[in-house]
Amino acid sequence: MSRIAIYPGSFDPLTYGHISIIERGLRVFDTIIVGIAINVRKTPLFTTEERIDLIRKSFPGEDRLQLDTFEGLLVDYAKRVNSKVILRGLRAVSDFEYELQMANMNRKLNDTIETMFMMTEETHFYVSSGLVKEVARFGGAVTDQVPKHVEQALKAKFSE
Ligand code: PNS
Repeated sequence: MSRIAIYPGSFDPLTYGHISIIERGLRVFDTIIVGIAINVRKTPLFTTEERIDLIRKSFPGEDRLQLDTFEGLLVDYAKRVNSKVILRGLRAVSDFEYELQMANMNRKLNDTIETMFMMTEETHFYVSSGLVKEVARFGGAVTDQVPKHVEQALKAKFSE
């Protein structure tokens, strides 16, 4: 039986924190589907196509990684793609409350789908897409937080 996990998120943009979870997830699961949420609550900096492209460039030739977008409820999407697992990274304690709420709500919506967490590596625990965007917007270096091509994409966005 093939072990599939969905790794959902905004990925606006991809950071080394996400990359670490995907790499480690691929050691545990046969296939990881990165599900980029088309989120009604957030206005993204990058279009979904741009976000997919930035992720694809970080995993060249990795055929066990699928990139997709979804609208609506995550659990419905998980069911559609036949995944029993939602994979999420946990950084600092501050993530815990939000993740606990989401995991419980998702279980309430569909208790056949399990949320599994991976602790973010200590070198990445402070990295977030939000902070990366803020630093890059004001010309700060984000070299340690995102791959080169993401850094370049951020620079290009903020010089538009
Ligand atoms: O990277 P993010 O922005 O923290 O990811 C949040 C995400 C996309 C996982 C969450 O907003 C989500 O699952 N959205 C889909 C809509 C949904 O199912 N909402 C109820 C979750 S309790």
